[in-house]
Amino acid sequence: MEHEISPDYIPISPSSLRTNTTVGCDIFLLAKTTAEVRFVLYCRGDAVFDEAKKDMLVAQSIKSLYIKKEEQQAFFEYLENNFQHIVSDTSIPIEERTKIVHGAATNLIKDLFNDPKSGNVQRAKEFAHNMVDYVIKDSKAAESLLKIAVHEYYTYTHSVNVAAVGTLFGQELGLGVKELKGFCAGILLHDVGKTRISTDILNKKGKLTKEEFDIIKKHPEYGIEVLEETGIEFKEERIITIQHHEDDDGGGYPYGLKKEEIHLCGKIARIIDVYDALTAKRSYADAIRPFAALREMKDNMLHCFDTELFKEFVRFLGPYDPRDPRKKRRKYDVSKYAVS
Ligand SMILES: [Fe+2]
Repeated sequence: MEHEISPDYIPISPSSLRTNTTVGCDIFLLAKTTAEVRFVLYCRGDAVFDEAKKDMLVAQSIKSLYIKKEEQQAFFEYLENNFQHIVSDTSIPIEERTKIVHGAATNLIKDLFNDPKSGNVQRAKEFAHNMVDYVIKDSKAAESLLKIAVHEYYTYTHSVNVAAVGTLFGQELGLGVKELKGFCAGILLHDVGKTRISTDILNKKGKLTKEEFDIIKKHPEYGIEVLEETGIEFKEERIITIQHHEDDDGGGYPYGLKKEEIHLCGKIARIIDVYDALTAKRSYADAIRPFAALREMKDNMLHCFDTELFKEFVRFLGPYDPRDPRKKRRKYDVSKYAVS
């Protein structure tokens, strides 16, 4: 693979660069001769990437550009700032656009969990809204995002994958755009309360003591504190943050709510969160594949979920082939749940 040539550089797609913008990090071309392979500066980070530069790349059929690894943060910020333009640019292949959405979201989550200050919470919220706009406008976008989301298992990208799976599932269930936006932001933010818990406990290998588990159980309430401090006033974010560990049979935390006491968004979040825990690579267990995760949920954890909703989730994550007419799904009846 090309990026193995030097671990100091990472490849980026030329289509992710908008003309007449300043990228904020140096862009390189890979120059290969029989004698050597080297990186040549193509556009400085503070210079405008103009039409002429773009045209040259097209004329030379250049498929990859490179940035210095140490500057990737600046590049992700560039993608985030230009997100709406990039994802609505139909000249960029949809898989490419989805990768950009995914990369920018992953970077954002990393920032959020390193420092949950209000600016980062706000970024997560705005990003969630854009992501929902992206997937509802184009079913192909949803499809490609889902493909990435269920096939990647890295810890850092996992919150993003879970937000993607959750949002698309919410869309499948027939949630409206407004609810979906709040829902997507809620899923991205739901564990933000964990930033108030010591990493010694969060990353502990092996079984937690009762005291340690009691501390972990406080993260939904800590999450609400973080949201309140950052001025988040939307309903879905709060509901998901406080209810994502409540079980259908009343055995969850923090309040032991059951059945209809749990909001639809909380019920979905519970399913998505367990799916996350089982499929993510964690310090205490190896990740398992989606199918095995669903079976584990069905066999050993069904009491945690609204059974009917769980069945819908299994159907939703079934083999995804949009060309298959049998996959035409019926819209789920959300009216019986407390969604207001
Ligand atoms: Fe949680």
